[in-house]
Amino acid sequence: MNIAANGIRHLSDGRSLDDLIKRDTREVSLAVMNDAELYEWELQQLFGRCWNLMGHESEIPEPNDYMVRPIGEDELIIARDRKGEIHASLNVCPHRGMRVALGEEGNSPVHKCIYHGWAFRPNGDFVGAPAEKEKMHGTIRDKSELGLKKARVALYGGLIFATWEHDGPSLEDYLGDFRFYLDMLWNRTDRGTEVLGPPQKVLINCNWKSAAEQAAGGDGFHTISLHRWLIDAGLFVNAEDGTPPAMYGVNVSANGHVVRCIPVDMTFARAKGAGKMSLEERLQELPPPGITPELVPQLSKHLSDDQIRLLVEKAPQVGGIFPNVNFLFVYAPQSDGTMLGAMGIHIIVPRGVDKCEFWTWMFAEKDCPEPIKEKMLRNAVQQIGSSGLIEQDDTDTWPHITRSARGAIGRRDLTLKYQATDGENKPEGWPGGGHVFEGFAKDDTQWYWWLAYRDAMLP
Ligand code: FES
Ligand SMILES: [Fe+2]
Repeated sequence: MNIAANGIRHLSDGRSLDDLIKRDTREVSLAVMNDAELYEWELQQLFGRCWNLMGHESEIPEPNDYMVRPIGEDELIIARDRKGEIHASLNVCPHRGMRVALGEEGNSPVHKCIYHGWAFRPNGDFVGAPAEKEKMHGTIRDKSELGLKKARVALYGGLIFATWEHDGPSLEDYLGDFRFYLDMLWNRTDRGTEVLGPPQKVLINCNWKSAAEQAAGGDGFHTISLHRWLIDAGLFVNAEDGTPPAMYGVNVSANGHVVRCIPVDMTFARAKGAGKMSLEERLQELPPPGITPELVPQLSKHLSDDQIRLLVEKAPQVGGIFPNVNFLFVYAPQSDGTMLGAMGIHIIVPRGVDKCEFWTWMFAEKDCPEPIKEKMLRNAVQQIGSSGLIEQDDTDTWPHITRSARGAIGRRDLTLKYQATDGENKPEGWPGGGHVFEGFAKDDTQWYWWLAYRDAMLP
């Protein structure tokens, strides 16, 4: 992108960010889904400045554990030091640019570059170079200047985030009003969550935004069509009045982050009549995804009464953290009549203008009984991620959108439309913040994702 004298950035075809994201008509140019200039700017401006999800602290529980994780196309070493503190450093040797950690994870008190042997601590500090007395790191720079480039780290509910913006907003401010909703998922039990194995990764031939505006943006509308088989196969049921499942609820956008709160009785036949149950009955009969009877007493220690009521009556089931995180805490009815859950989180990692990697972690509460964890893992593997029947549908569409955006006429003239809206209509007594939309899942949360994208791309 070029910068004009007035500070407005534009592509070399002359279009500015406001030409691409048309706020008056709520349209986005198809060109954004496959544009090399825009992509380079996203890596620097957006991924280079946002808080990015790196994984979960249960993946590196011991001192000196580490894992290699992406921010955009940069790679970081996420490592726990001897004292238990977690650090994030660029996985690039400051000597001549070799990758330092070559595996995906491991345990080591020192990260040694295989090329000439410079070595680094888990916090990224430079230890030294071989043949110490020969001073193979030179005499021009002090050792304190020769460490790995460090990112800023913050944890939220066990999730590890990193940013290159050392002076930018805190993670708490970045999440803002969205924390009220996230707490119902990640901060609700004494010992929190843990990952159920390493992340799945699958390479998809699509621009990262085709996936992110749908998944992280909270597209509910596509369920009617793309996931129609869920109804045909009897997994979801239409309401008696013919209403498709999981379409009515409360959709929230806060700081570009999204959550869809969907009552369980809007999705599954066996949950009909839930509205007549007391809160306690619902907690036993139709517990929120991932919560078991053993865990119920813990909820009131961590959540307000409003949050517990919302979690039980209109569970936050799917959503996203801007820019590229998508989470799912979905109900999973079992053949024995009980109701369990499947919990997962994705990141959508850019791998070039027309490729991305779709990562999936499955989760359970640490204090959940082991046999239930196993069942939840099976539910999650069947439903979400690269093995999941539901999300395989989604990954079918994204490459076509990216391909469409290569065509000269399509990229010049076509727009993506986010014009189905009823406007904000917060239900009476709604306890949370953000822009709140009750009713049929319309385009609002996705449009707010694009507004957050526009803001993040501004200088
Ligand atoms: S590139 Fe790493 S030690 Fe030379
Ligand atoms: Fe979907």
